Amino acid sequence: MKINLISDTTTRPTQGMLDAMMSAKVGDDVFKEDETINLLEAKIANMFNKEAALFFPSGTMANQTAIKIHTQPGDQLICDKYAHVYNYEGGGVSFNSNASCKLVDGNRGMMTAEQVRAAINPPDFYHSPLTSLVCIENTTNKGGGACWDFKEIEKIRKVCDEHHLKYHLDGARLWNALVEKGETTQQYGNIFDTISVCLSKGMGCPIGSVLVGSKEDMDKALRIRKILGGGMRQVGYLGAAALYALEHHFERLQEDHDRAKEIGNTLKTLPFIKSVEPIETNIVIFNLADDVDEQAFLATLKENDIYIIGMGQGKLRMVTHLDYTSEMHDQLLTILNGLTIKKHS
Ligand SMILES: Cc1ncc(COP(=O)(O)O)c(C=O)c1O
Repeated sequence: MKINLISDTTTRPTQGMLDAMMSAKVGDDVFKEDETINLLEAKIANMFNKEAALFFPSGTMANQTAIKIHTQPGDQLICDKYAHVYNYEGGGVSFNSNASCKLVDGNRGMMTAEQVRAAINPPDFYHSPLTSLVCIENTTNKGGGACWDFKEIEKIRKVCDEHHLKYHLDGARLWNALVEKGETTQQYGNIFDTISVCLSKGMGCPIGSVLVGSKEDMDKALRIRKILGGGMRQVGYLGAAALYALEHHFERLQEDHDRAKEIGNTLKTLPFIKSVEPIETNIVIFNLADDVDEQAFLATLKENDIYIIGMGQGKLRMVTHLDYTSEMHDQLLTILNGLTIKKHS
């Protein structure tokens, strides 16, 4: 049995999701005539208490569009040094928006309001780029699925208001934070100018992200999405998958979190593991003992049909998801407990 813990993006649509997709009512979404997408966008806007929403092919495009809306060439945004928008979107902040990032040395991908305040360039000092946007990520990917303290999110909003900054949330895995912390979409919608959410991660859709914001911002987003090549035609087939996921795959995220915590508890007992980062949601990040070779460890897992990835600097990552079943979970724990790992000679 192949056990793929590389990412929560590796899931395939369930039969129920495929049935929903195949019976979707579709039209040309570039002409705004796809009734399934119109329904999805209205539903998600309403969930977040926002005026409008726009469907995107990827989280990257949704984030990059938000950044483009909120910045002018030469501007600077503030984000944590672990931020996906900075590390993993191909340099899109500079490529698409001609803007730069001021990186904050936060904790597991999360900054404090005071760190954000200190990172703002003085507006009267014309040598510095103009700070115009703060981007945060919840849950944090490189931070190991960590969830923000909502009070800190609110404090950062205050700093943004005091300094006339826009505030964007990369909520690729916001669903996981909502389930784990018992928070609501409305409470997030009431704080941020724009929020991107992904349906293609823990929610199990093959493709799809949504950006929410004001009507004015989403009108701008529609134009930018078109420029980026993200205007799609009968995309309601994917919209139907998203609607299905919202109904069937949201609450079950707790199962992924529980399994991730159990994996972490097992890893902590193994002699070839140095440390396991705190586990709050579906991401497990751990470090091998210094005398264990990473490539050899990954190869041993592969021989056992277990697939995970390295994140650099000696960190390894496992992500639980919809296609990671309880049988796979039992098998993984049994294999981990029985592993013998070669050490450096
Ligand atoms: C936190 C975060 N933001 C954005 C994205 C980008 O999503 P996509 O792969 O759909 O472009 C990812 C992808 O893993 C992510 O983890």
